[in-house]
Amino acid sequence: MSATADREAAGRVLAAITAKRDGAELTDGTIEAVVAEFVAGRVPDYQMAAWLATVACQGMTRAETVALTRAYVDSGVRLNLRDVGPAVVDKHSTGGVGDKITLFVAPVVAASGVAVGKVTGRGLGFAGGTVDKLESISGLKVDLSAAELRSVLAEVGMAISGQSDELVPGDRATYALRDVTATVDSIPLIAASVMSKKIAVGAHGVVLDVKFGEGAVVVDRGLAETLARSMIEIGEAFGLRCRAVLSDMNQPLGYAIGNALEVREAIEALSGTDIPGFTELGRRIAALMLQLADPELTADAAQARVTDAVSSGAALAQFRRWVEAQGGDAGQVDDVGKLPRAARTDVITSDCSGWLARIEARQLGEVALSLGAGRHLYHQPLDHSAGLRLRGRIGDRMTEGDPLVEVHWDGRGDLAEIEARIRSAITFSDGPVGPAPVIDAVL
Ligand code: URA
Repeated sequence: MSATADREAAGRVLAAITAKRDGAELTDGTIEAVVAEFVAGRVPDYQMAAWLATVACQGMTRAETVALTRAYVDSGVRLNLRDVGPAVVDKHSTGGVGDKITLFVAPVVAASGVAVGKVTGRGLGFAGGTVDKLESISGLKVDLSAAELRSVLAEVGMAISGQSDELVPGDRATYALRDVTATVDSIPLIAASVMSKKIAVGAHGVVLDVKFGEGAVVVDRGLAETLARSMIEIGEAFGLRCRAVLSDMNQPLGYAIGNALEVREAIEALSGTDIPGFTELGRRIAALMLQLADPELTADAAQARVTDAVSSGAALAQFRRWVEAQGGDAGQVDDVGKLPRAARTDVITSDCSGWLARIEARQLGEVALSLGAGRHLYHQPLDHSAGLRLRGRIGDRMTEGDPLVEVHWDGRGDLAEIEARIRSAITFSDGPVGPAPVIDAVL
């Protein structure tokens, strides 16, 4: 790369930062150039971080958001999966604590005869990411080339990859920067990031799981709905059929928070264990994906197929086959005890009797992150075994001394401080509390 080209690229990005800062609408060409120059390594991280921060502060028009989505898609290969099956579907979550839905939904849908092709991401801030969770499985390849994704999909009916050199590298590069520069919760940046992955993979239909509440990347319900509508519009602009579920993230999804712990919980759900909140949401998203593939299918018939895929063992067998197809150790699916295990497990017990009234997902996500389940720094390695496992959900009755939260960690740190942070996230009520619904609306 010549020094002149680098200087010219940096000058173009500086002009784009200045224009955005001053409230101008950026042209498609400018947005495309910013992304392309960054992916080509001609723009330093600090400049791209400034551009992302300016966008996060100033927002983007619909046209700019579509242009950013297109720039991410065009940074890599756009697959056409129409020859892989009559319908290929996908799902994507906007991020929350304990969100392992993909690991349940993808095999359930694939076992029901509809192919699932998915490009996904790593953790963002306090919210975990599917790629990090999948790396808990030894050997599992999470950066597939376009050809590998297509071949795994054709072989086992399901393929999941992180962004790679070929698949939305523009999103991969900016995603990692956003994670450490407080630019995660910008509506246009999320919309473009999510939709570029969906468009690049070339599925026919996508279910968007748009989360709101304490433990979501987007806290406010109204903003989450705006995000959902914006993503549906972007999908339509690229010919992609979308449905969106607005789901509540005021408490963690299921009991497990942390990479290997969540893989284990997803395998339990695939084996037929009902995990309150998690299984309900997973079943609904899976049914919507089946309906996207076959618009004639009624909601009841779709639910029946989901039930059958789990109770027959087909969904678990599908997950196992897929793990093997992507090079992972299927022995860890057969025996979840072989997944990474923390050096220490400490159990925090309930210090009073009563009903669980509040379990602050974000606070617990941050505790899990500080135990090593997430990152504070660019490219920071994770401890896949680290995390928390709750022993109850909102509405459950606890008696003093009952196990409340398991802390899975390496033991290097101050347990009293961890315990205090966990206790401050949990509130009891003297009287019964109804369970909190997970599904708020389907758009
Ligand atoms: N998921 C993504 O892929 N990108 C975001 O920005 C947030 C959630």
